Amino acid sequence: MALLPILRYPDARLHTRARPVAQVDQTIERLIDDMIETMYAAVGIGLAATQVNVHQRLIVIDISDDHQNPQVFINPRILAREGSVLREEGCLSVPGIYECVTRSETVVVEALDRRGQPFSLQATGLLAVCIQHEMDHLEGKVFVEYLSPLKQNRIKTKMRKRARETL
Ligand code: NI
Repeated sequence: MALLPILRYPDARLHTRARPVAQVDQTIERLIDDMIETMYAAVGIGLAATQVNVHQRLIVIDISDDHQNPQVFINPRILAREGSVLREEGCLSVPGIYECVTRSETVVVEALDRRGQPFSLQATGLLAVCIQHEMDHLEGKVFVEYLSPLKQNRIKTKMRKRARETL
């Protein structure tokens, strides 16, 4: 397994729309393992392939406390949504920034698992928010884009400044 570099906002590649995974093969399995390892190493609870510059529709999530429950969603689709919830979100591509975003409270999602088998699940709470956040990445959307243009500009400036400082 290998740690993958995570794209940082405002990298333009984060705005790429991902293509469906055509076949769940060894390459995809290796990518899944690397993404899970990368997510754990970065202390995140979700990661979309977009964030590691692979523009295929694949996300990994683990909201457990002990990193024992990685969930894989390949070609995920939201079939139903209900309610609305305002919750503070963060993102491995926008480190150190936490902002509140309104999401559906409950979603029913259909996807393929790491073996290419279809499944569906109803998610609520943190998992539902996380699924919606990660699926946005596949559309080329970063959570800060829900904020006002003024706030987005402030965050961009902050991120660019930090990127220069760490060079
Ligand atoms: Ni994110």
